[in-house]
Amino acid sequence: MLKAKVCVLVSGGGTNLQAIIDAVKSGIINSAEVSVVVASNPSAYALERAKNNGIPTEVVHKKAMPSQEAFEQAIIDIIEKYEIDFIVLAGFMCILSENFTKRYPERIINVHPSLIPSFCGKGFYGLKVHEAALSYGVKVTGATVHFVNEIPDGGRIIMQKAVDIEDTDTPETLQKRVMENAEWIILPQSVEKVAQSIIELKK
Ligand code: GAR
Repeated sequence: MLKAKVCVLVSGGGTNLQAIIDAVKSGIINSAEVSVVVASNPSAYALERAKNNGIPTEVVHKKAMPSQEAFEQAIIDIIEKYEIDFIVLAGFMCILSENFTKRYPERIINVHPSLIPSFCGKGFYGLKVHEAALSYGVKVTGATVHFVNEIPDGGRIIMQKAVDIEDTDTPETLQKRVMENAEWIILPQSVEKVAQSIIELKK
């Protein structure tokens, strides 16, 4: 069966990558395969998760690159080498320039740990998003999977899932609940959805 080839870009722990790997194993993802995992730093634990599952890995060390252009070109070279159909940002903590995003219209997806358009855009990443939600006092948050364009967290929304905030929440407990109850569910489902539409176009 024809599968869409996915490149997953990561920077840290890689629990969202793990959710994708598990979803491929369980059949929730049936139309895509993870062809390569690319990390923006060499100590990302996500690299171990990929290796443990026999997935090729590459490191494009952002801090060691002379420019944003060189950083992005190195990623483009990998995407071409592996003949990638679409790119998944799974805890990828680097902003991609318009030069990069324009090259792959509706072929890059991102998971963000809030209900966009709340608590998103430049400066809102990782735990900071949950700190902002708690300090604002919202009672419901969640996660969003969206296409990536030139506006940070501004592309078309693919899926969202809401998560209740509890009075006793800390940024850490909230992050964990949003991951477990939203991100790890809607990211694999979105990967399958996008993969199916790409395969349909190829037929
Ligand atoms: C996740 O909560 C993800 O949504 C968030 O960082 C965490 C990475 O965890 N991403 C962003 O904030 C991007 N703006 P992971 O490495 O375990 O998947």
